[in-house]
Amino acid sequence: MTVPVHLAPPKRLIDATIDGEEVRVPEGTTVLDACSASGTEIPTLCYGDTLAPRNACRVCVVEVEGARTLAPACSRKLEPGMSVNTDSERVRHSRKLVLELLGSSVDLSTTPKVPEWMDRYEAEPDRFGPRAEPAPLGERDARRAGEHEAGDGTVAATVEQPPKIDNDLYVRDYSKCIMCYKCVDACGDQWQNSFAIGVAGRGFDARISTEHDAPLTDSACVYCGNCIEVCPTGALSFATEFDMRQAGTWDEEAQTETTTICTYCGVGCNLTLHVQENEIVKVTSPHDNPVTHGNLCIKGRFGFQHVQRRGEGAGKGAEKGPL
Ligand code: SF4
Ligand code: SF4
Ligand code: FES
Repeated sequence: MTVPVHLAPPKRLIDATIDGEEVRVPEGTTVLDACSASGTEIPTLCYGDTLAPRNACRVCVVEVEGARTLAPACSRKLEPGMSVNTDSERVRHSRKLVLELLGSSVDLSTTPKVPEWMDRYEAEPDRFGPRAEPAPLGERDARRAGEHEAGDGTVAATVEQPPKIDNDLYVRDYSKCIMCYKCVDACGDQWQNSFAIGVAGRGFDARISTEHDAPLTDSACVYCGNCIEVCPTGALSFATEFDMRQAGTWDEEAQTETTTICTYCGVGCNLTLHVQENEIVKVTSPHDNPVTHGNLCIKGRFGFQHVQRRGEGAGKGAEKGPL
């Protein structure tokens, strides 16, 4: 007779109400997960499915009956008898404000779904006035805590600045950074343990930085690209993607995705190859892999050039078919 082996104690089911509908979920389920299961979409930016919640952006807030403040759906766990409203006037107003403040100060042009959310919550980021001129390269990095100069109110302050291109593999374009901390957590104790990047400065001058703003090549970075994997806005991107966007040739609709196994070592990480016009343009990794959770090393993430077509004469006699 076989006896089932329980890997974890079974979870108690709890009953709660979301938008007037009764739900029954395992204890410990977040409002966000319960909503996803029932098909209710909640906008998220700083939430990462492989990271502990940071509650940095607050675009996911919901109203919990009887609570004084709005609660972030990405970290708030449902409790027995709890009644949650995901689309009240207060919720909509709060999400609108978050989107307006981010939209007025950050370049959200490559953040998925933002145009749809701006429409849904009638956000008007332009109401704060014309955007300030981008800061020269390095100017924001030189700002010291406690020395912030308030603007004169004629223009909307932004984090815009030239992108940082100091290596061949990836680009840091902090004009697109919403300070969600996900890259810091992925680089630090939650995954990579390299601690190459952290938060410098305070308030509006806060920014992601290497130690003493050193170029990435002089930092502790090991080029795993796990920060790119979790960045929600495209602030961190493959150099290939950055260059193609600059040239106007980046076309996600024309790309195919093929998940395969990395051949560099015996760990056997899953690689998802994004291919456009028969060229690998970037590599991601499935987040639901129970071993790697979307993380890779430099070889799996960036070591794909050897399988690319190298022009006339390369790989003589070996006609390459589609990848
Ligand atoms: S590539 Fe890896 S080591 Fe470098 S900053 Fe990103 S997560 Fe950290
Ligand atoms: S670079 Fe990307 S992941 Fe890092 S804090 Fe900025 S938006 Fe978040
Ligand atoms: S997604 Fe929940 S606080 Fe950012």
